[in-house]
Parts: sequence; structure tokens; C-alpha cells
Amino acid sequence: MPRMAEAFSPYALPATKAERYDVLRIEIGSVLDGEANRVARMATVASMLAAAFATYLWTGFYLVDPGRPDELVVGPYQGTLGCLRIRFGQGVCGAAAAAMRTMIVEDVDAFPGHIACDSRSRSEIVVPVLDARGDLIAVLDVDSAERAAFDAADQAGLEAIVRQVFAN
Ligand code: SME
Repeated sequence: MPRMAEAFSPYALPATKAERYDVLRIEIGSVLDGEANRVARMATVASMLAAAFATYLWTGFYLVDPGRPDELVVGPYQGTLGCLRIRFGQGVCGAAAAAMRTMIVEDVDAFPGHIACDSRSRSEIVVPVLDARGDLIAVLDVDSAERAAFDAADQAGLEAIVRQVFAN
């Protein structure tokens, strides 16, 4: 029987980022056990990540739109209103989607073309989301109100979570 999301308590999580991502990945796997629906999976990942990290200001997915393959369209997220569509190559999300690699931006004001959906955003990380065939299906975008909030530990932790949830 899958564990209920209500049983998840961010206060019981370990202090170091690497350990926290490890525990979260296991918790997320447990909550999503037996649930194949992609919207449910994305909504659960966004909710559990946002609850676990006080530094996260906006946490969510931009999906490759099958109807307009050169655009991303907003998916499940936690945070203030996000822009609806981002063209490939545009902003940090579009750059990560076009390059199919994780982008860490320590200072969004220094990133040409950054899209400021929430003016409090100071730094961000965007991780490509691939399916089991290796096709890009979305990007996971996390923004912070702190400068340089994301590092290699966030990259490793988030990449491991999206790999487990969407590429298995
Ligand atoms: N930060 C993104 C835009 C999306 S929002 O901030 C929710 C970017 O420049 O790609």
C-alpha cells in the first residue's frame, strides 16, 4: 500500500543537502509507488521538494508541448504565478531544454534573457527531464530568492530524483 503524502514530514529530514535529497528520493518513490500518471508524478515531486527546502521559492515543471515542439508549457508547480510558455533557447529553462543539460545560474540578473516570473528570484537550477527512451519530456525549474543557492549537490540530488521518477 503506497504511503500517503500527508505522512511526509520535512522536519524529519537530515541537514546536509546530499542526505536530504537521498531521503527525499526514497520518500518520493514510496509515495509514487504504483502511480504511472505523469501529472500526478510531477505534482508530487514539486510539492515534496518545495516542502523540504526553505530556500526554494518556485519549484515546478515546464513540459515539452507535443503540439508545439519548439516550446515549453507550464506544468505542475509550487509558487507564485509562472509564465505559461517558454520558447526553446529562451531563458534558463529554454536554454536547458535546448542543450539537454542541467543549468545552474548563480545570479539571474547576469543571465542574458532570464525570464523573471517572480521578481524575488535571484538564482536558479534547471534540470532536463528525460523519459525511459531518453527523450526530453520537460524541465524541472527551481528558483531561489538567495543568490548562488544551488551547487553540485543540488544538481546531483535533483538529477537522481528526476531519473528515478521519469526514466524508469
Ligand atoms: N526562471 C525561468 C522562467 C520561469 S519562472 O521563473 C517560473 C527562466 O528564465 O527560464
